[in-house]
Formats: sequence, structure tokens, C-alpha cells
Amino acid sequence: MNKILVTGASGNIGAPLVEALRASGADFEVMRSKAVVGSAAHVASFSDVPSLQKAFAGIDTLFVLLPLVPNKLQFARNVAQAAKAARVKHIVRTSGAGADPQAAFALPQLQGSIDQVFGDTGIATTFLRPAGFMQNYSGYMAGMVRAGTVYGATADAPQSLIDVRDIAAVAATVLTNPQAHAGKAYTLTGSEALTDSQRTQILSDVLGRTVNFVEVSQEAGTASMVQMGMPPSIVEWLSSLNALIAAGYAGAVSLDVQDLLGRPAIGFRQFAHDFQGALL
Ligand SMILES: NC(=O)c1ccc[n+]([C@@H]2O[C@H](COP(=O)([O-])OP(=O)(O)OC[C@H]3O[C@@H](n4cnc5c(N)ncnc54)[C@H](OP(=O)(O)O)[C@@H]3O)[C@@H](O)[C@H]2O)c1
Repeated sequence: MNKILVTGASGNIGAPLVEALRASGADFEVMRSKAVVGSAAHVASFSDVPSLQKAFAGIDTLFVLLPLVPNKLQFARNVAQAAKAARVKHIVRTSGAGADPQAAFALPQLQGSIDQVFGDTGIATTFLRPAGFMQNYSGYMAGMVRAGTVYGATADAPQSLIDVRDIAAVAATVLTNPQAHAGKAYTLTGSEALTDSQRTQILSDVLGRTVNFVEVSQEAGTASMVQMGMPPSIVEWLSSLNALIAAGYAGAVSLDVQDLLGRPAIGFRQFAHDFQGALL
């Protein structure tokens, strides 16, 4: 028996993961932070340990997806505490590429510290460490794509972005056969590293109109996040992400997706084609 609980079920990764688990006939439930009319989801918050413990009761395998919020590390501690109390057998956590508590950059350092919180529970773990998401273009960057100019403080350096549908497919594979992946950490990237200019060229081809990339300085990138009213910790994490991309650390290609799924990762052109409705 392997009863699965999916947290973050409404999100970019969670939505296709729920679809994949449903298609595979897995025994799974979902958790939401607020009640949704007509939904059978457990209602629990990462900020409320008793609610988590209740949602985790009877769960064998827990998919942990924590949002990028200032108290993310505390959310992780709360989930770890509740998972131990509820005797969860296996935790599958979406982390981030390069996660390492000793990392020189703030965001992978945070992701590594959170992985360590779960590693320290004594519960079997599997860490999924994705690169940047292609769906950022159809999400928070969609307005820039629609307006025809994408700005980035990335020095136009290559990044091996991944399609969230591949992350979801890997997560479904691991969640439905967790013992085979206990103690493993997978780096999930696309099958090629492209620069921002190469990606905006692909978007131009697929959308049939010009989308430009304009490089901005690290300082300008950080200033625009401050101007948008982002909390200081988020500004620090995302600025560190820009810095590590610009320094050339986000271009490595991993074969873990291909090895786990038995097919190549989805390419950026395919993503652009499939998500053009959000970009036009
Ligand atoms: N974007 C990237 O390029 C990238 C790259 C690598 C790693 N990541 C990591 O991926 C994660 C984001 O994944 P995503 O884009 O799939 O997430 P997302 O779309 O931002 O969704 C966040 C999810 O968290 C849930 N949530 C929010 N607050 C909650 C709370 N207090 N209690 C319980 N659930 C709560 C939401 O559920 P409700 O709707 O029920 O509130 C939602 O399903 C972050 O950890 C980020 O660091 C992102």
C-alpha cells in the first residue's frame, strides 16, 4: 500500500502532477491551504503544524512543494515536524538545482538548508532539484513577452530550463515507486542550455512576431524587484539567482529526466508552441 499526499497541488508543478497521478491510477490525496468549494482536498497550512499533522495522518509518501515565501525555512521545519509525528514513510521534495547548505549563492544555500531539514528527519527522502522553469515565461514573464521585450539581469548566459510537465512526470514516477528512489537526489534540467536571446528568438518564430531580449545590470534587476515591493529576503534570493546565472552556473545539462522517463526532456520550442495561448 502506498497512499500519497500532494502538497502544492494547485501550482505549476502540482497541477500536472495531479493529472499524472490520476492517469496512473495511484492512490493519492491533495492538500490545499484554503477550502475550495467542491474539492475533497485536505485543508492545512504550512504555517500550522497541527493542521499538517492531521492532513498527513495515514499517508505513506508525501510530496512537499513549498512556495517561495520569506518564511520558507520555517514552513519546512513545520512540515518535517508534522511528517515525523504522523509517521510518514517517505518524503519527495521539490528543491532547486545546485541546492547545498554550503552554496556561495543565497537561493541554492536556502534550498540546501531545507533539504537538510528533511534529511535530518530520519524519514526516507528523494530530492527533485529542478533548474529554472520554462513556464516562468507563461507565468510572471508573460506580460513582457506579450509587450515584445523581455528584460533580464542574466548577462544573456545559457540556462538549461525545464518544462514543469517533466518535473511533474518525474515526481509521479518517484511517488508511485518511492523505495526505488530512496536516498536519491535528481537534478532536473532541459536537454539543452539556451541563452535568453536564443529563447526570445524561438518565441518570435513560434508566436510570429518579434520578441526581444534586453540585458539589464544586476543592480537594475535588484532595484526593479525592490520597486515592485518584494520582501527583502525574496529580493536577496532572486538577486542571487540572477548573479549565479550571469556567472555561468545555470547552463549544465543533466540526463536525469531522460534516464527516469525514458524519453528526452521537453524542448523550449515545444513549450512555446504548447503555451502560446498565454503568450499572445
Ligand atoms: N520558478 C522557477 O523557475 C523555479 C525553479 C526551481 C525551483 N523552484 C521552486 O519551485 C517551487 C514553486 O513551485 P510551483 O511554481 O509549482 O509553485 P506555485 O505555482 O507557486 O504554487 C505554490 C503552491 O503552494 C501552496 N501554498 C502556498 N502557501 C501555502 C501554505 N501556507 N500552506 C500550504 N500550501 C501553500 C499553494 O497551494 P494553495 O493554492 O492551496 O494555496 C500552491 O499550490 C518553489 O519552492 C521554488 O523555489 C522554482
